[in-house]
Amino acid sequence: MKPHDDSGPLIDIIAGARPNFMKIAPIIRAIEVRQQAGSMMRWRLVHTGQHYDARMSADFFDQLHIPKPDVNLEVGSGTQAEQTAAIMVRYEQLLLKAHSSLCLVVGDVTSTMACAIVAQKLCIPVAHVEAGIRSGDWTMPEEINRMVTDAITNYFFTTSEVANQNLRRAGVGDERIFFVGNTMIDTLLGHMARFTPPAFWAEAGLQAGQYFVMTMHRPANVDTAQGFAAVLQAIGDGARGMTVVFPVHPRTAKTLAALGDLPKNLLFVDPQPYLEFNYLVKNAKAVITDSGGVTEETTVMGIPCITMRNTTERPETVTVGTNELIGTDPAQVKPALDRLFAGQWKKGSVPELWDGKAGERIVERLERLVG
Ligand code: UD1
Repeated sequence: MKPHDDSGPLIDIIAGARPNFMKIAPIIRAIEVRQQAGSMMRWRLVHTGQHYDARMSADFFDQLHIPKPDVNLEVGSGTQAEQTAAIMVRYEQLLLKAHSSLCLVVGDVTSTMACAIVAQKLCIPVAHVEAGIRSGDWTMPEEINRMVTDAITNYFFTTSEVANQNLRRAGVGDERIFFVGNTMIDTLLGHMARFTPPAFWAEAGLQAGQYFVMTMHRPANVDTAQGFAAVLQAIGDGARGMTVVFPVHPRTAKTLAALGDLPKNLLFVDPQPYLEFNYLVKNAKAVITDSGGVTEETTVMGIPCITMRNTTERPETVTVGTNELIGTDPAQVKPALDRLFAGQWKKGSVPELWDGKAGERIVERLERLVG
């Protein structure tokens, strides 16, 4: 619902790629609740079109009950610079036609950075949800996106005390840092009762606790055929005959198409919708991944998580949660799985304020900031 009176402050909510959608859903829901209580705050949902396949985008809108975007910039695929440029040009055109009071960006994708730059240059304040996290790895485009975005953000909504410290160290005053928790976890907790087995569950003979889930899409792991084949072999072998369900990201599919024989226990499936993917994770023996968001979800669900990266911008998933970084060398997969099979994986607990209420805290604060 949107108020008919257009005199209230208008917040642009930016979403571009798959990991953004679960982060904006609880914020929109919280604004709607405030509106029902009489708030004049309005929002405009801007989809940049960075992810455009139904399986990477529309399925998430449907399942998470996210309203249809007010605007779709339809930028599509491209290099980092092409996507950044296209988003900037089209978002600037939108703002010049119809200004907003604040630009709210989430996460670390190209759309996050591109829209933050455009808004700030038009003197529109920027709020960043999931601000302050850092991997320290400049080879990841996401790290550049985080640093650039935070350099020009006015209001920082954070998921952890480590993120707060990173921001303070960069000179951000405490009056602009709001430790609110994790909107991705709001969505996880809010939809957990609706998680549903994927169509292939029975046919593949999957049983709770008796299979693995794997996701892999970072350039360092999947962009060379030889390296990726070695990763797949190590995981297939290390799983001791158990099925490894692997929803394949479009970037990964391109490399996969060029590979020869692969271990028979790897089950390649399309990118899964949210409710099916998290059903698979919640019932898995463990998850093997190079994603950031998945390490947060496994931590909250108490599922062991083996991350094939050398760094993480989410250290609490390791220090508090169930995640462990094993690096990108395939030789490290077997020792990690051996420890898991020996029952030696840590149990973990849930980080502070990851309680399902981050969206409410953000909107309560936004109302004071723009109201
Ligand atoms: C992006 C994000 C990353 C996030 C990931 C999750 C950046 C820099 N990276 O990476 O943080 O973890 O999304 O999915 O923003 N493609 C399709 N269909 C789509 C979308 C993409 O076929 O709907 C293809 C593109 O043409 C491209 C490849 O997948 O070849 C990668 O897409 P891209 O948007 O460049 O980045 P991601 O690797 O998805």
